[in-house]
Amino acid sequence: MSLKFNTIDDFQFNNKTVLVRVDINSPVDPNTGIILDDTRMKLHAETIHELANKGAKTILLAHQSRPGKKDFTTLEQHANVLSEILGRPVIYVEDIFGCAAMETIARLEPGDVLLLENVRFYSEEVLKREAHLQADTHMVRKLSSIADYFINDAFATAHRSQPSLVGFAFELPSAAGRLMEKELRILYGALDNVQRPCVYVLGGVKVDDSIMVIENVLENGSADFILTTGLVANIFLLASKVKIGKCNKEFIEKKGYFDFVKVVERLIAKFKDKILIPIDVAVCKDNKRMDVPVNEIPDLPIYDIGTETIKLYAQKIRQAKTIFANGPAGVFENPEFSIGTDDILNAIASSDGFSIIGGGHLAAAAVQMGFEGKIDHISSGGGASISLLAGEELPVVKVLEEVAVKK
Ligand code: 3PG
Repeated sequence: MSLKFNTIDDFQFNNKTVLVRVDINSPVDPNTGIILDDTRMKLHAETIHELANKGAKTILLAHQSRPGKKDFTTLEQHANVLSEILGRPVIYVEDIFGCAAMETIARLEPGDVLLLENVRFYSEEVLKREAHLQADTHMVRKLSSIADYFINDAFATAHRSQPSLVGFAFELPSAAGRLMEKELRILYGALDNVQRPCVYVLGGVKVDDSIMVIENVLENGSADFILTTGLVANIFLLASKVKIGKCNKEFIEKKGYFDFVKVVERLIAKFKDKILIPIDVAVCKDNKRMDVPVNEIPDLPIYDIGTETIKLYAQKIRQAKTIFANGPAGVFENPEFSIGTDDILNAIASSDGFSIIGGGHLAAAAVQMGFEGKIDHISSGGGASISLLAGEELPVVKVLEEVAVKK
């Protein structure tokens, strides 16, 4: 597949004001609020250094989490971590496009890097609308008026059609940043050469993204097997009429994912032989792991897939020629419940098949376990990479291509 989008090579940046959308959405310790992993920030360093070295006044736009979540925080700490990674100051302003932001922008010198506040603090950012409508928002209008270029490096959020991701490209000459460019070339390259059997291992807590992907790859025939883990697996268990315990059912309800049970019931009825669901799980009892078969799940939180399930999944992974994985298998931050995530990653790393994994948490776990050289590509994106691999058109890529044609 040939990709047509502008890159940083297409423009001159000296003394220009450049808006750069990055994705530095990072895992945050729920108790201390401290950033637990800076992988995504490191991945944007190339783009930021290049622009700053070329004399741009670089203004970074980013989000952290979603409204209503515990890790939905300001970006002050991100600015400090980023500054350490870059080895250059990152100015931070607690504002997006109000007076404080505009005054700070007006004072920028060539080579300066500024990080604005979490764009999702601004209500229009989270409205789901078509790309061209996102240009008609206060943030896009205001910031476009003072910028020369827009660079999109936020591959990990390329599957969202939000103003800071798709709106600016309609107002400013726009290009992909270095990370975006690399991700798109590798992932579309992989799509051009999928060997069968192709296995998708889908877990984590972003059930909405995963179920959409499962539906797509099963309907379009691109997946031979789906291995479900994490919260995704719990929904499949529930849809299979397994009694998962009151607290686990309530957790699904609290997350707003109960409506997906019906969708999953239909998927199971249609694609029963292609979907693997855990045969055992690990529940948390007095802070310890307890493995139980799925017909004996007590009213205790499920924190991992069980050891028998891991063996079964590892076998399927070993037989696969292509493996796409997204999201951890359980609460891997707690060593008692990291076995599922560790063993699945181990199976992927030791398989002969071509492998791509994605998602902040799974990617961080793979890096921590030293699997970088053993997995063909560790993507910065979770939902974005898996949506792309499932054959979906990513709004950010579509817009970058549209505006490149107009170049
Ligand atoms: C991610 O972590 O997958 C991206 O930052 C997108 O986040 P979102 O799912 O909250 O849009």
